[in-house]
Amino acid sequence: MNTLTIPTPDDWHLHLRDGEMLKGVIGHSAAHFARAIIMPNLVPPVVTGADAAAYRDRIRVALPQGASFEPLMTLYLTETTDPDDVEAAANSGLIKALKLYPAGATTNSDSGVRDFDKVVPVLERMAQIGLPLCVHGEVTNSDIDIFDREAVFIETVLDPLRRRVPGLRAVMEHVTTADGVEYVKANDTDLAATITTHHLIINRNHILAGGIRPHYYCLPVAKRETHRLALRAAATSGDARFFLGTDSAPHPTDLKENACGCAGCYTSVNTMSLLAHVFEEDGALDRLKNFASLNGPKFYGLPVNQSQMTLVKSDQPISFPTGFETGAGHVTVFDPGFDVFWHPQ
Ligand code: NCD
Ligand code: ZN
Repeated sequence: MNTLTIPTPDDWHLHLRDGEMLKGVIGHSAAHFARAIIMPNLVPPVVTGADAAAYRDRIRVALPQGASFEPLMTLYLTETTDPDDVEAAANSGLIKALKLYPAGATTNSDSGVRDFDKVVPVLERMAQIGLPLCVHGEVTNSDIDIFDREAVFIETVLDPLRRRVPGLRAVMEHVTTADGVEYVKANDTDLAATITTHHLIINRNHILAGGIRPHYYCLPVAKRETHRLALRAAATSGDARFFLGTDSAPHPTDLKENACGCAGCYTSVNTMSLLAHVFEEDGALDRLKNFASLNGPKFYGLPVNQSQMTLVKSDQPISFPTGFETGAGHVTVFDPGFDVFWHPQ
């Protein structure tokens, strides 16, 4: 099989940033994806419907001419988020989810939630109106090992929260562990997970063995190989509860290659090529459409894209740029460490 045609994919977890960085990266997502869930962790964060409308307009202005790309906006859940503002923004079609960052969990998460009691009224309203909560599922306690933070979050935060707010629809974003996969599979309704491209490819050895590789550092941090294999199995299974969220997160190269390097991998350029490679390797090319094009819209209650993408397999390896310049600095592109032959036509 040398060509594969699927409904145009969507990216259900994307960081576009703002200003010059936004201008520098938006074209990559618009080239391959019809829609994306846009993360709200700007500085300051996108917290109100008015913030989201203004950010959506800046994204639209930054789009290359003629591009058809729909930003699906989210609000950053804070302890002072107003349920009425959330409902109005959801009813108008402006926002498609709220994002929960435990305070301090990752890049620009200082405004996140410390006291979960304070956000229960918003979560209850979301359950009533069917608005999903996108969850960064890591605890932030300094006494919890970074490799255990997802599993501990499920047990101590997510599961109790879901019991407390029945009917709350939640997406475990960028799930990185077999524990996360199992938790999603054990729950029939109201729960799904996004999986990134890079977590299907790297494990923690890629980051740390034989020298530290900052461009493989992201949060949640890649775990051991058994977890990567669990993610591969979930993504390639076709199970409707798992779908693509690249978590492509641009940082200037000098802030990645730094004594305290930022977390985030940039995969918007080569995600579809890498996914075709991964799915072919696992004998699941026919299920790439489920992961990248069908399962996300189904969970979010949106139509599948009418347009199509055709991926073609070349005889020769595809060459991607190792990085690119933006008005906010150079960005390094995720390097899978192997040759890929698939590319969107
Ligand atoms: C993201 C970023 O840079 O905004 N970084 C990352 O490592 N994934 C934040 C996030 O999604 O955790
Ligand atoms: Zn992210």
